[in-house]
Amino acid sequence: MSTHIGAQMGDYADTVLLPGDPLRAKYIAEHFLTNVKQVNEIRNAFGYTGEYQGHRVSVQGSGMGIPSMSIYINELVQFYGVKTIIRVGSCGGMAPDVHLRDVLLASGSSTDSAVTANTFGPGVHYAPLADFGLLDTAYHEAQKMGITPKVGDIFAADRFYNDELDMKKLADYGVIGTEMESAGLYLLAAKLHFRALSVLTVSDLIFGDEKTTAAEREQTFNDMINISLATAIA
Ligand code: HPA
Repeated sequence: MSTHIGAQMGDYADTVLLPGDPLRAKYIAEHFLTNVKQVNEIRNAFGYTGEYQGHRVSVQGSGMGIPSMSIYINELVQFYGVKTIIRVGSCGGMAPDVHLRDVLLASGSSTDSAVTANTFGPGVHYAPLADFGLLDTAYHEAQKMGITPKVGDIFAADRFYNDELDMKKLADYGVIGTEMESAGLYLLAAKLHFRALSVLTVSDLIFGDEKTTAAEREQTFNDMINISLATAIA
């Protein structure tokens, strides 16, 4: 076992879906996978390995934000040999043509987190990017399901509550949504040489007050999982 994961070597599949919420990991395992085995319960950061259409796939809760997620990614990749991580999460919509329940694919991720600056030092503003193969596959698998995802820059915020950030300016510069993880995922993917993609559903709007029902949110969440699992086994 590694420091924060109680699994044995070989317990995780090569490809891991990574929701922030451990209960979403449980939901995905129970509703989408067969032959499921729970592989982690330390700190209630639930992890499971099962099968999807005959392919071995794992799902692991990461917690919220880059620091928590990075712990799980480092251990999954360096200790358990994971090769592909697909984050499945929610985000706030920021572009005028982004609506509640839309599926967004993060082609890149800007951030106010210090992780990129701390990695490269002053003067370098590294641009963390998705794996293009995964991005291309997810886009086309979604289209086969009748869903056209919006693709673009996702702002990974260091703070959920931050009234000092100029979100309008970020939107003016083409940022389509905000969450708290993608830049950290893509930076680690570059560092540790694994493939990464963030697939997100819009749960709220940064400049509006549209609301969704619980049933609508569940349907959109299921769409996101279906796209991600199809991408995982493609
Ligand atoms: N901000 C940050 N993270 C989020 C949001 C948001 O508005 N919505 C879902 N995750």
